[in-house]
Amino acid sequence: MNYGEHFSVQKEDILNLLKSNFSLEGEYNFSDLTFGAGGHTLAIAELFPKSHIYSFDQDPDALSNGQKILKENSLEERVTLIDSNFENFSKKIPLNVKLDAVLLDAGVSSHQFDTGERGFSFRFEGPLDMRMNPNAETPNAADILATYSLGELQELFSLYGEEKFSKTIAKNIVEKRTQEPILTTKQLEDICFHSYPKKLRFGKISPATKVFQALRIKVNRELDVLSDVIGQVIPRLNCNGLFMIISFHSLEDRIVKHSFKSWKDDAYPIEVLTKKPILPSSDEIFKNSRSRSAKLRVIKKVNEWPSKNKYAKKE
Ligand SMILES: C[S@@+](CC[C@H](N)C(=O)[O-])C[C@H]1O[C@@H](n2cnc3c(N)ncnc32)[C@H](O)[C@@H]1O
Repeated sequence: MNYGEHFSVQKEDILNLLKSNFSLEGEYNFSDLTFGAGGHTLAIAELFPKSHIYSFDQDPDALSNGQKILKENSLEERVTLIDSNFENFSKKIPLNVKLDAVLLDAGVSSHQFDTGERGFSFRFEGPLDMRMNPNAETPNAADILATYSLGELQELFSLYGEEKFSKTIAKNIVEKRTQEPILTTKQLEDICFHSYPKKLRFGKISPATKVFQALRIKVNRELDVLSDVIGQVIPRLNCNGLFMIISFHSLEDRIVKHSFKSWKDDAYPIEVLTKKPILPSSDEIFKNSRSRSAKLRVIKKVNEWPSKNKYAKKE
């Protein structure tokens, strides 16, 4: 499937932050940890014509589309596309490179959601895969459904999906898999649907939504790699460097908020620029409903520890 029309979430917010912190003529090193359809990388490259961008993705589709668009935009020299999970950030960024701004736009791309064979969405019939890197030798969603115990499934749906009916869904999965293997998105959607009380089956959110979210997070270790990379990026930021993270659900946002706070308190002089996260405008949500749950948090590495005493005099 080709990359179709794509909206990069909170692109204007990201560009405004960069514009207000850096000179458009400056020579900077930036990193985009989640290249996807390349919307953020391309916009940043255009705005800062002397910058170099190190862009990561672990999805072979994103990478081959990326090579194509970098060529079309004559950006091969200025954007290094890195075929890797961003959990390898500190190994993949050359040791002599310090970064002026790093962006992480978490989660799954529209392309991944909308490609039935990837198994991310119950809108399409497809195999229960859900690996962002389908070449990785790691368990996919069907493997998890086949091997986890009832208790483990229940815990997964409840922790990562905040699913109210996790126990019934887990019980029905365990029962169903004794009759036939659960291998497709539609099989799982059907189990979730019949696990919900009849009067709640046709609500705004499908009974399968949270289970699919939980499985996807587990398959891709999304929360682990997110919290891990925050600790790798901060030491590699230049003074005045920004780290901008867009998250899409409360589990991710909690990690970002708490990690930023604990790094600020413990290890490096950091200023949290977003006491409250920056949210997409209503206009953006109208144009791209997938942006509605986005939250952008930003920190800046600074020269000195910001004073905890707001009445302290500046030198
Ligand atoms: C939300 S999309 C990013 C969209 C992008 N900002 C744009 O403007 O087109 C997320 C992308 O990041 C990739 N991704 C997510 N987690 C990753 C990880 N841990 N390592 C590398 N790539 C990851 C996904 O494969 C997907 O292509």
